[in-house]
Amino acid sequence: MQYNKKSVEDIDVSGKKVIVRCDFNVPQDENGNITDDKRIRASLETIKYLLDHNAAVILCSHLGRPKGEVNMKYSLAPVAARLSELLGQQVKLAKDVVGEDAKRLAAEVQPGQAVLLENVRFEKGETKNDPALAKAFADMADIFVNDAFGTAHRAHASTAGIADYLPAVCGFLIKKEISIMGKALSDPARPFVAILGGAKVSDKINVINNLIEKCDTVIIGGGMAYTFSKAQGGSIGTSLCEEDKMDLALGLIQKAADKGVKLLLPVDTVCGDHFGADAKPVVYESGKLPDNMMGMDIGPKTIALFSDAVGSAGTVVWNGPMGVFEFDTFAVGTKEVARAIAASGAVSIIGGGDSAAAVEKLGFADKMTHISTGGGASLEFLEGLELPGIACLQDK
Ligand code: 3PG
Repeated sequence: MQYNKKSVEDIDVSGKKVIVRCDFNVPQDENGNITDDKRIRASLETIKYLLDHNAAVILCSHLGRPKGEVNMKYSLAPVAARLSELLGQQVKLAKDVVGEDAKRLAAEVQPGQAVLLENVRFEKGETKNDPALAKAFADMADIFVNDAFGTAHRAHASTAGIADYLPAVCGFLIKKEISIMGKALSDPARPFVAILGGAKVSDKINVINNLIEKCDTVIIGGGMAYTFSKAQGGSIGTSLCEEDKMDLALGLIQKAADKGVKLLLPVDTVCGDHFGADAKPVVYESGKLPDNMMGMDIGPKTIALFSDAVGSAGTVVWNGPMGVFEFDTFAVGTKEVARAIAASGAVSIIGGGDSAAAVEKLGFADKMTHISTGGGASLEFLEGLELPGIACLQDK
């Protein structure tokens, strides 16, 4: 999917009320403290630009899935506090989404100031893309800016519906996400290598399919590799397997061969006799696992094979861990792949979600060209799907 969308720089925002959809869906601990404010920090460039260019800013976002009910566990109050710290000015939080308090704050906000509406998913119409709710958002402002890349795959009232009623452009975060990932898919520095991991073939089938069309090498690791192994007649012990996806796996192997794309699968596997952090790691050749053993990571020969492919790449896209990286014993494969990507001279793009978390946890974040702020959204982008929150914006 190629996008050429107008951004905040292509529209006059001075003196205007600008409603900005951000993705402030940040993780919190049991006391409501934000444990990772990356998504808030990623939105600052757009917010600061708007404030510096004399716009009156009305911010909105979802947090979690409150399912149309007002539930203060999902209040954006912690986000308003964090934003106020990061911007060095108070960001007032409305008590509601499009009710009296929201309307009052939106009417009062002055150029150079920002306010935040309450969690948009407190409104039942949000996830249903209700036109009445979309219009209620639009009525508060003159311009809509979408910068919520993490939610761009959702056609909701505040991400897509609102664009029916206002001039709609993207912010810097969406601009960056689509230009880096878009270039990788349309005009990559070659060789273009994709590394795909994670538990299930069913989650990644479309992305593998699309990337076989674009890449020179597709690497498959993580839990889904065992479905490929069994489909090829291998013994996988008690490892994860989607029996009903084995034909699909064989189809993907065939498709890669037909297209002359190198498809690399693990050649050895680190196993344990049960699923647990305390399982003793034992290495077996892939496809030759004893009945009682469960594969939980790629082995040392596979690490060398995958690292070698990454080392000579021009572009690397990575989505999904190589093993059960939550357990230190079985995090080695994921860690070494991250290290190889960090050490390569390649343009490196890390899909959001688990792979982004792994790269952060392992300390390689600053070595990557781009870590996407979207889990589901980056996956759908890599699948070649249209993202409704971006498709609805004005073309250049
Ligand atoms: C995410 O965290 O992936 C986004 O914020 C979207 O959240 P959702 O899956 O609840 O729509």
